[in-house]
Amino acid sequence: MKYCFYIGLLLNILLLQACKKKAVAPPVQIANLKSASSFPVGAAISSIGLQNNYVYQGTFITEYNSLTPDYEFKFDQIEQQQGHVDYTACDYIINFALQYHIRVHAHTLIWHQALPAWVLSFSGDSLAWENLFKTHIQTEAAHFKGKVSSWDVVNEAIRDNNGALRNNDIQTGDGSIWRRHLGPDYIARAFQYAHEADPGAFLFYNDYGQEWNGPKLDSMISLVNKLKQRGIPISGIGMQMHTDINVSNNNLTSALQKLAATGLKIHISELDISVNPNNKANIVFTDTLQLAQAAKYQFIAETYRAIVPAAQQYGITTWEFSDHDSWIPAFFNRKDWPLPFDADYKKKPAYYSLLKGLKN
Ligand code: XIL
Repeated sequence: MKYCFYIGLLLNILLLQACKKKAVAPPVQIANLKSASSFPVGAAISSIGLQNNYVYQGTFITEYNSLTPDYEFKFDQIEQQQGHVDYTACDYIINFALQYHIRVHAHTLIWHQALPAWVLSFSGDSLAWENLFKTHIQTEAAHFKGKVSSWDVVNEAIRDNNGALRNNDIQTGDGSIWRRHLGPDYIARAFQYAHEADPGAFLFYNDYGQEWNGPKLDSMISLVNKLKQRGIPISGIGMQMHTDINVSNNNLTSALQKLAATGLKIHISELDISVNPNNKANIVFTDTLQLAQAAKYQFIAETYRAIVPAAQQYGITTWEFSDHDSWIPAFFNRKDWPLPFDADYKKKPAYYSLLKGLKN
């Protein structure tokens, strides 16, 4: 009898504990970036990565619902020899995207870089240049019609030092053959030609430096506003945002405010956050740097969501997603760890803070 009482008591205690546990359910764990976010979250990816690296492909499919081809759609990749257009690598990416229902933001039709040698050495009058320009835009845009959602039609047309259009820039060697041979209105015509070839695609002007270069930002805003006023079919602006842990939060906020005021879609299109902007040779990626980077990822995502109206939120895309594949160390010849996944495709503090910034 006595034992029965004790057993009953014990059962009651256990039941109470179980009820208590039920009442305080653990917080819902969001499993990935794309389900945390109300707008598409993307990364630049490469066909080589998809083909050769199972972890790369798996991580991408789990986390993202938008992609930008890292280099496959660039002029020098598709038409190394004049008239010999090869879309094999591009089509690999397109088929991957179709299979997994991933949005494709295509990059890029007109850029002063990544040009094949035959374009750089092309000699012809303005009519011949116009023909080359138009044929390139329309052949490529027509090939991907209905398969891509959007294009970076013109990339990086504005100079860093005074907000003027790139032209000869003899001193820096960083001019634009397009501006030089086609005149300043080539930008408007690029949008018109792309729209003729794929009227359903959203068309973007894409550039960098909005968060640190005031004159360049103002020039970009004036450029896109004029295009809009003339009825040129531009849908959005890409902020590349190759940025770093020291960038001013105030500048970031005000750049987003000014860009959102154009009414165009805003795409943070190539985000990465450098922890070694001053090229320190012996830098170590300390916990302090990890946390500073994480805080910046969170701030950018939160500020984008707070400032850009929902209808204008085209998404946030990082340039690749793992430190293993970032362009920064090779391009700037330095150690750096700019992305949310480490070189082993493990989630960094930056990943968890980006996730938090997307869902708060
Ligand atoms: C980079 C690619 O990631 C590299 O693989 C390539 O060697 C150089 O270009 N801004 C852009 C992107 O618009 O196209 C660049 O991509 C990075 C800077």
